[in-house]
Amino acid sequence: MAKVKLVSLKKIYEKNVVGVEDINLEIKDKEFCVFVGPSGCGKSTTLRLIAGLETPTEGEIYIGDRKVNHIPPKDRNIAMVFQDYALYPHMTVYENMAFALKLRKYPREEIKKRVLGATKILEIEELLSRRPRALSGGQRQRVAVGRAIVRNPLVSLFDEPLSNLDAKLRVEMRTELKKLHKRLSATTIYVTHDQIEAMTMGDKIVILNKGRIQQIGDAETLYDHPVNYFVAGFIGSPPMNFIEGAVENGVFRAKDGDIKIPIENVKGKVIVGVRSEDIVVDSKGNIKAGVELVEALGNEALLHLSVGDISLIMRMYESPPHSGNVININFKREKLHIFNTETGERL
Ligand SMILES: Nc1ncnc2c1ncn2[C@@H]1O[C@H](COP(=O)(O)OP(=O)(O)O)[C@@H](O)[C@H]1O
Ligand SMILES: [Mg+2]
Repeated sequence: MAKVKLVSLKKIYEKNVVGVEDINLEIKDKEFCVFVGPSGCGKSTTLRLIAGLETPTEGEIYIGDRKVNHIPPKDRNIAMVFQDYALYPHMTVYENMAFALKLRKYPREEIKKRVLGATKILEIEELLSRRPRALSGGQRQRVAVGRAIVRNPLVSLFDEPLSNLDAKLRVEMRTELKKLHKRLSATTIYVTHDQIEAMTMGDKIVILNKGRIQQIGDAETLYDHPVNYFVAGFIGSPPMNFIEGAVENGVFRAKDGDIKIPIENVKGKVIVGVRSEDIVVDSKGNIKAGVELVEALGNEALLHLSVGDISLIMRMYESPPHSGNVININFKREKLHIFNTETGERL
């Protein structure tokens, strides 16, 4: 296994389209690292650069201690699983999994040992003689993963491998891939646009936007201490509430409704961010909110509130008020996030 290091990595496509810019990142040996960000942010580009399927415009790529910029993909000892993990339709599961090893002229016995080992881990032993069209989506996905692990790669790369599965299966496969990683301890880079998938799977999560890394951290750090407006809005469900306004003489006043909050050491236009669970009912609270809609989810309720033209979502674990009511609320002061309106940076 091996660590992966990216230094000032940059990929500019034809017509000056930015793939990624200034990517600096170190992924430790055996780590499970997730790249997450909206479509077009550069996730696949970064993976393809690591795999050697794209040539960087600038920067360096290391796998282990070896610089691999000039090493062809087949010699990088990397396995990649794609979203459309096309299995060979005319081959059986066994043949699909053995194919890459055959190409590399592994002895027949070794191939058999590795394929059977992988099918055992993935619990697909009974499928060995089937062809892909006789498999369910989840089973095909498992074969695609098997094809990657039989090679004992230094690094496994996954590019949105679960997006074609239905929601329930996705959650199941997510757990399985994590368990698999625990067993094999292979350095893994996993790409997804789904922040919940990223949060639940990644030991290290890299948030990308517009070709640049926004923040690197574990789930808790990203949730509690987002470095900017983008990360704050991207991570968390329901998303963080944002209130635009300005601070003057130590008081924040919202632009679109009657919200005043004392805020020290900040001046000018800001956006105040507050998570749904950091809004509380408080009979002494000076914010009056109309309850527009109540989503009761059993263990919790999401209240859609309006304060003037400001919409807020509040999370409640007690029995919620009915829609149509007006309630007094407050924000947990120490939990507020304050961002510069112009730059989006956290203050
Ligand atoms: N082969 C290519 N040629 C030109 N532009 C590309 C190519 N591949 C990706 N891009 C562009 O690079 C940017 C990043 O794309 P990509 O890495 O595929 O994003 P993601 O995987 O995060 O959705 C996008 O603007 C995309 O249109
Ligand atoms: Mg992609």
